[in-house]
Amino acid sequence: MDKIQEIKEKISTITDPSSEKTLAETQGIKHVALDNDKNTVNLVIGLKEVDDKTKQVVTRSLAKIIKIDLKYTGLKIDFQLLKLDDSILSKTREVKYIGIASGKGGVGKSTVAANLALALTRLGKKVGLIDADVYGSSIPTIFDMKIQLPKANADEKIIPFIKEGIEIISTEFFLRDEKPLMWRGPMLGKMLNHFFYDIAWDEAIEYMIVDLPPGTGDVAMDIQKLIPQSQMLIITTPHPSASHVAIKAGYAAKELKHELLGVVENMSHLMHKDERINIFGEGGGKRVADKLETDLIAQIPIGQPKSGHHSLFDVHEEIGINYLGLANKLIKSM
Ligand SMILES: Nc1ncnc2c1ncn2[C@@H]1O[C@H](COP(=O)(O)OP(=O)(O)OP(=O)(O)O)[C@@H](O)[C@H]1O
Ligand SMILES: [Mg+2]
Repeated sequence: MDKIQEIKEKISTITDPSSEKTLAETQGIKHVALDNDKNTVNLVIGLKEVDDKTKQVVTRSLAKIIKIDLKYTGLKIDFQLLKLDDSILSKTREVKYIGIASGKGGVGKSTVAANLALALTRLGKKVGLIDADVYGSSIPTIFDMKIQLPKANADEKIIPFIKEGIEIISTEFFLRDEKPLMWRGPMLGKMLNHFFYDIAWDEAIEYMIVDLPPGTGDVAMDIQKLIPQSQMLIITTPHPSASHVAIKAGYAAKELKHELLGVVENMSHLMHKDERINIFGEGGGKRVADKLETDLIAQIPIGQPKSGHHSLFDVHEEIGINYLGLANKLIKSM
């Protein structure tokens, strides 16, 4: 059995004394990660109450299983308050998560995420967009949004911004002057937890699009683990250097048991007087899809919006229609 799975199964029987229910019943196991080098287990555990007494009892039970039964040397636990009734995760049956992943940066991940969100909205769906790309957050720029701290409602939940009918939250609104590279591991994990638990998302949201950081690194993995139910869309360009790493990102997603929705080949070609010019080569998208045993579901040409906007395409132009086609396919397949 997979080590993470083994840990999850063993600790799921532990009782949270504050709710008198097992962690399996409360869905209190929020995150399990392994630091193989240090033989250490990192856990995020949700409890109904996080007072010292409860933490102490649960820590003792966890340590017994992790250190004595399973023989790991180290154990790190982050406790958080469980808000089962009002978290968006408890409504997962209604929300479909689309993780937007790529191997390389700069292949158009955020542009695709934004235009896909727009296309789904135009098709009458209620859409949320989470910009979780701490390294190159660009969703606010794409939507011409001011960088400001969001407001909180009476329940101390963060109110997402709304643009083009899409509810949007971005790491950028919280980072301020801090350097994105400072956001690693636990700190980042905490911020992303907020994105899922402490945002007053509209209850009617049907599709939640998540712009993930590029690559197969720890951050991407952490986020993908936070949203295990997310299905993945892999973005690449036709260029071999991009498709090569896109395959790796796809494998990483598969390893985390994410279903792949398919591959989008962005900057696929340039149309010039009815002639198709393959600026970045050819076949990258197909190659990635074949390797990952999934389909190439869209090819987005190189082009600028004709609407006058810098990144968002109109429904009356070719690329805008491409995005509607992609949105339609996803609605049918999810
Ligand atoms: N089909 C396209 N045709 C022309 N330009 C495009 C296309 N797709 C994206 N771009 C441009 O390429 C640049 C990179 O796109 P984008 O920021 O969406 O990529 P990304 O993969 O999210 O990058 P990062 O890794 O920095 O987050 C942007 O300037 C964007 O406007
Ligand atoms: Mg981006």
